[in-house]
Parts: sequence; structure tokens; C-alpha cells
Amino acid sequence: MDILLHGGMVYGSAQGDFVRADIRIHEDRIVDISAEILPRAWEKVVDCTGKHILPGLIDAHVHFREPGATHKEDFLSGSKAAAAGGVTTVLDMPNNSTPTTTRERLDEKRGLARVKSLVNYGFYILGCEENANDLAEFEDIAGIKVYLGSSTGNYLTEDLGVFAIILQNARRRVVVHAENEGLLRFFAAKHRESQLYHKMRDNLCAAVSVAESTLMARHFAKPFHIAHLSTKEELALLRLFKTPLITCEVSPHHLFLNEEFFCARGAYGKMNPPLRYNTDQQALWDGIREGLVDMIATDHAPHTHDEKDTAVMEAPCGVPGVQTMLPLLLQAVHEGRLALRDVVRLCALNPAKTFGLKDRGTIREGGYADLCVVDLVAETIILNETQYSKCGWTPFHGLVTKGSVVMTVVNGSIVYHEGMFYEDVKGKEVEYDN
Ligand code: DOR
Ligand code: ZN
Repeated sequence: MDILLHGGMVYGSAQGDFVRADIRIHEDRIVDISAEILPRAWEKVVDCTGKHILPGLIDAHVHFREPGATHKEDFLSGSKAAAAGGVTTVLDMPNNSTPTTTRERLDEKRGLARVKSLVNYGFYILGCEENANDLAEFEDIAGIKVYLGSSTGNYLTEDLGVFAIILQNARRRVVVHAENEGLLRFFAAKHRESQLYHKMRDNLCAAVSVAESTLMARHFAKPFHIAHLSTKEELALLRLFKTPLITCEVSPHHLFLNEEFFCARGAYGKMNPPLRYNTDQQALWDGIREGLVDMIATDHAPHTHDEKDTAVMEAPCGVPGVQTMLPLLLQAVHEGRLALRDVVRLCALNPAKTFGLKDRGTIREGGYADLCVVDLVAETIILNETQYSKCGWTPFHGLVTKGSVVMTVVNGSIVYHEGMFYEDVKGKEVEYDN
């Protein structure tokens, strides 16, 4: 269906600002952005007066759990959560119960996402010892994920010699979970009694791993991305070592929560890397404001109530986030911590540029119509009951944000509109520029 979005304040990438404009969508593309477009008889006109229109958000870090753990999430439930959160593209991590290490497993995921995902998607391959020598064959992926410290699943690459082979053979960006495994063991033993997860995974674990891996990425001159920065020490190191080939992300839970939440909520505030101190949290906001942080990505990692309602040290790590990122950031905009154009830069422009997503991440004539319409005045009440993730909870339960997602358009089709989903619409796998 052809759609005309009328009267919204539209993000204009040239000026980096919002201008009142109409947007005509034909099939999957934006064909016209003008001050006043007269509707045609067959077009669906959506009144966007008083609303802001952003490029659909691109979440470069989700765990949609399919195949293998579809009781936690699958491509349908995960993509509904994404669409309700204004996210039109997700890049899915490879730490499934059978990890995505081969072309066969990649193709299996592709088949599952194709029939279920309401939003666009791309995939990471897991880089590890068993496939380190085969990685050059993977060019049709978002990147290669390497776990330098252990986390959900047991896919660790502890040996930096293996990491060197991975970097050497990579044809796509190498993304690291940077926590030094030896130090994780040391601090876990030292602080086990305390049951304080941030002490058992001290800031030093992350800082040492970021230092080691960043130096190695510089040596091999490969595109390199650090997932979920969480400490002031990592930022200090990146101020020294960052190059144009090196990018990094922070996750909303590290921006909006700290160790006090873990102390209050136990397993529901347990993830890797852990929630840190208030001073780390402030440093992450500083890193965003100074432009050191390239993007915000959710690390959406759902686990069920049953799984979380066990002894805190046994419970799995991770929290959902893909549905709540934009409302939280709109609240930050409301509070003056960010500008709306920063949200676009951090959640659409930069992820598209970093991972080379062809024709995604901007609003321009000829580009894909991946859009998100937001109301900066309406409130969102974040509740467990209104989460579309199969896990059915959120660490932000009860929070009220100023700003809400009204409508999400994926490849020219309305997928989500004021609480309704159009499930016949399916997303596509992204293509890559470079
Ligand atoms: O908390 C986390 N959960 N960190 C990770 O690195 C993995 C993720 C998961 O898959 O559950
Ligand atoms: Zn993750």
C-alpha cells in the first residue's frame, strides 16, 4: 500500500534537524519528502501532526534466542518487542544453544527469521577456535562476535593467539564481549561470599580486555567494535586508543541503572557486564556527550521468570531491552540529557554506518521507508504486562517516560500502530555496503 505521512516533524539528515514535511512512501521506499504533498486517491494518509518522524532505530545487539531457546524469545516475539519500541532493524547475536559458527547454522537462522520477523535483521557469526581459520568466507554478515570473557553459553575465546587468527581472517567487523577471563576467575573467587556481582566481575576485567583487544585490532588494522562499555576505565582507554576503525556501544541498562538496582533486585539486575557504580554511569553519559560512544545498543537478552527466580548466583545473566530503549531515551531528551538528533545519530545513523547497512538508517528519497513516529508529549508507562518479549518482564517496570512510540514502518509497511501489530508484514535481511 502507498502511504502518505502528513504533517510530521521529519528528521532531515543534511541539517541534522527536524523540519515539518510530508513523506510519500511507494512500495518499500521513500519517494518524496516535501513541504506539502497532495494525497492521491489510493494512498493511505496518516496524520502525523504534532509528531516527530525518526529513521527506524537499528539495534546492533540483540539475542532473539532462535533456534534453541524459543521459550525465552523467538523471531516473532522479539521483533514485536522491537517494532513496539520503534526499532526497524536488529542484528542478532550468535550465542544460541547451538552457536552460529557455520554457514549451515547461519542459513538455518535465515530461514527462521524470514518467516517470522516483523522487522529487518542481520546476523553475527560466532568467532571461536573451531572456525577461526574459516572466517574469511563470511562476508554476508553484520560481523563476527567474540567472547573474550565467558557469558551465556560457553563460547569463550580466552587465548589471544586464537583472537589474533580471528582478527587476521575477518572480512567483517569483529565485535567483542570484552572481559578478561583470568581476572573474572580471580575476582569471582575473591568476592564469591559477598554475592556482589559487580565485585565478582570488577571494572578491571573489562578495562584490561578492552586494552588488550583494542591494541590487537589496531595492530591488524581491522574494523573493530566493543560491545556494552560499562566502566569509566574503558572510556579512559578509548580516549587514548580509539581510531576511525574502532567503534563502541553502550547499553541502556548501564545508562539508566547501577549496582543499587542489582542489590535491590538480584537476578533481575544481573547481566554481563554487570551494573556498575554511579560514577561509571555518569562516565558513560559523558562518553556519549563527547562523541566517544558511537551507538546505543540494547543487548536485549531475555530470560524467563522461572529462570531468574532462582538463587542469584545460579540465575542466568541478561535483561530484555529492545522495547524500552526509545522510551527511555525520549525521557532523557525530555530531561535535556540528550537532543533528539543525538538519539537518531546513536541509534540509527551510526549503527547503519558502522555495520555498512545498505540504504538503512536515514530518511532520504530513494532509501528504504524504515521509520518511527514518536510523540514527545505522550507518556509511556513501562509495565511487565505490556512487554512483547516472551520473558514478560522488564527491569524498568513502573517507570513513566515522557515520549512514546506511535507507529513503526518497516520497508514501507506499517508494522506497529498504537498498540496494534500487522503480522502479515515481514522484515528482510539487510544487505551490506562494504
Ligand atoms: O548478560 C548477558 N546476557 N550478557 C551476555 O554477554 C550474553 C547475554 C545472553 O545471551 O543472555
Ligand atoms: Zn549480548
